[in-house]
Amino acid sequence: MSEDRILRWGILGTANIATKVSKAIQSTASCNLTTIGSRDLEKARSWGAKHNVPNAVGSYQAVIDDPDIDVIYLPLPPNLHLEWIEKAARAGKHILVEKPIAISVSAAREMVDIARSHNVHLMDGVMWVHHPRTRMMKDVISSGELGTIRRMTCAFSFCWNPLPSSNIRFNAELGGGSLLDLGWYTVGATLLLGCNRLPQRVQASARWFQDVDVSFSAMMWFEKNFVASFDTAFDTATRRWLEVAGTDNSIVCDDFVLPWSDEESKFWVHGDSGQSEKRTCPPAVQQNNMIADFRDLILGRRTDNPWIDWSLKVQQVCDALALSARKEQPIELREDK
Ligand SMILES: NC(=O)c1ccc[n+]([C@@H]2O[C@H](COP(=O)([O-])OP(=O)(O)OC[C@H]3O[C@@H](n4cnc5c(N)ncnc54)[C@H](OP(=O)(O)O)[C@@H]3O)[C@@H](O)[C@H]2O)c1
Repeated sequence: MSEDRILRWGILGTANIATKVSKAIQSTASCNLTTIGSRDLEKARSWGAKHNVPNAVGSYQAVIDDPDIDVIYLPLPPNLHLEWIEKAARAGKHILVEKPIAISVSAAREMVDIARSHNVHLMDGVMWVHHPRTRMMKDVISSGELGTIRRMTCAFSFCWNPLPSSNIRFNAELGGGSLLDLGWYTVGATLLLGCNRLPQRVQASARWFQDVDVSFSAMMWFEKNFVASFDTAFDTATRRWLEVAGTDNSIVCDDFVLPWSDEESKFWVHGDSGQSEKRTCPPAVQQNNMIADFRDLILGRRTDNPWIDWSLKVQQVCDALALSARKEQPIELREDK
């Protein structure tokens, strides 16, 4: 696709998260958000009017069939991703799919194969990896400043009281649960910052409600004596922090998923005598960076897509963790050939 093309976007579903992402599409150069599709035409119309989207249609298929759309943003419940990725890819559309990309690694692999065979780009909608602070933390870790990486711990939670039983996150069939919803970030962070290989063994436990995990705790053992843990929950105070500890120093970031303030994004490097140094990153709007990165992939302004292979690994680890929690026993993993 020529580098100076304007990409025309359509959205499938009037999801809550589409409000934020639609603004990001609308404020990114070379991107034009033209169409919102919903199962309900009236819903699409009123969402479109509210969010300045000119065309509203009463089915997802109508968005896909529109020859004037190049890119689909897919914020549907996770169990519907495979079906709609397949339809979009067959129609030659690129797809930005919300996390978790799938409900199993076999479905995720199928999506990636379908996208590749139809020559379209597929990326997951996780935003924090597109924030320049993530690159800064990664650079500190690969510079050796922390020494050899030994431990990583993360937490991602927020509290619903009472639990909203009709939310998609509490529907097992749709792909609910805190592991896939929030653990997607903590597992992703572990594989991005701690060790980009799969753990050799995992063990997890969960508390269940309507057959989905309301809270989840996990340990993951990697090669070279690297060990990671995390917890996620829908019934615990808002937390979104991580710590990466090496033999010499450690990094602490108290808001890795999304900076608490738009004005400042930061993390700390802690030494072994109680000293800590705050490192700050210029303000950035991570969802805008995500859209710009996906645009650049589609337009050929960048040739690498590191995110999709990472998403597949995250899904593979989530599968093993879910199985471990269900079976209440450790699970061994093997790296793909
Ligand atoms: N990247 C991020 O920062 C981020 C943040 C929040 C959520 N997410 C992800 O985005 C996705 C959507 O989350 P959300 O909280 O925005 O969800 P939501 O508000 O419940 O929206 C989901 C949309 O999917 C459509 N849908 C189709 N079949 C459905 C069904 N059987 N039940 C419910 N909805 C159905 C509906 O659109 P129509 O009725 O218009 O057809 C609905 O508006 C999830 O995968 C979630 O993990 C990502």
